[in-house]
Amino acid sequence: MYTQAMDIPDESGKKLAVVPGTASELEAAFEARIAADGRIEPQDWMPDAYRRTLVRQISQHAHSEIVGMLPEGNWISRAPSLKRKAILIAKVQDEGGHGLYLYSAAETLGTGRDEMLAGLHSGKAKYSSIFNYPTLTWADVGVIGWLVDGAAIMNQIPLCRCSYGPYARAMIRVCKEESFHQRQGYEALLVMMKGTDEQRAMVQDAVNRYWWKCLAMFGPPDADSPHSAQGMRWGIKRISNDELRQKFIDATVPQAKVLGVTLPDPALKWNEERQHYDYGQIDWTEFWNTVEGNGPCNKERLATRVKAHNDGQWVRDAALAYARKQKERAIKEAA
Ligand SMILES: [Fe+2]
Ligand SMILES: [Fe+2]
Repeated sequence: MYTQAMDIPDESGKKLAVVPGTASELEAAFEARIAADGRIEPQDWMPDAYRRTLVRQISQHAHSEIVGMLPEGNWISRAPSLKRKAILIAKVQDEGGHGLYLYSAAETLGTGRDEMLAGLHSGKAKYSSIFNYPTLTWADVGVIGWLVDGAAIMNQIPLCRCSYGPYARAMIRVCKEESFHQRQGYEALLVMMKGTDEQRAMVQDAVNRYWWKCLAMFGPPDADSPHSAQGMRWGIKRISNDELRQKFIDATVPQAKVLGVTLPDPALKWNEERQHYDYGQIDWTEFWNTVEGNGPCNKERLATRVKAHNDGQWVRDAALAYARKQKERAIKEAA
């Protein structure tokens, strides 16, 4: 079971352990730790902006994990075999676990889970735009594993070295599980590509619909990404959006060849001089439109998520009642 370096904020929301010192001494100690590539832990002093950036990033990441359960969850009851059903259940369950580690990591920064979930459910907080598209066929489930989880791994491996300790540690386990997700998706597609013409066409159609959206998962181009530079200075972000996108494309093109699918970009071509693949223009208008809440499934995803939360109220009530009972028993026994 994954555990945090626990340092729970007290009821006033302030940190329990604060190293004494003047504001400038504290800031200097923080900067020195960052410069030495050290880790910042929950009990350490940190600038408010660093804390806010992490809460925003980690909670958005957590929201993406649990909303990401929905498009694939739709296919659990329709998986083509018992084996595929078992794999998919395990994968979707993993994503729920990722959400849990990440909400826990964000809580060490002093923001409660209720607050984070309220932000998600009101539509104020964002999550990855990729989950606002429908999963039309079984091939979409394979393509999500291969490309969406593949892009997630590329994004998340550098986060294992993030300067904030609890986030970095959560990412180590998440990345191991994502690697299984990516491979199960690719393997499911390999099987379909050895099947009928109809199955092959289904895979190609899913690749056509998801390819560009996966490239957008790395975020806007570096030139239009004002928060990136500060994130890099703080050691939260280690590799820029464009570099990660390029690494993903370079890794994926040979996999597409083995699979026997065409990536839907006529400009995709090996550049001998750069030693990288060149690629075409991403439609950022569509990306921002989806981020703003106007993608094909934004409303449906949010409504499903809110309903699941409300339907789970009795579980939270029961867990709290049980915890209360245990505490009362412990007090009685100690008396
Ligand atoms: Fe995940
Ligand atoms: Fe995953």
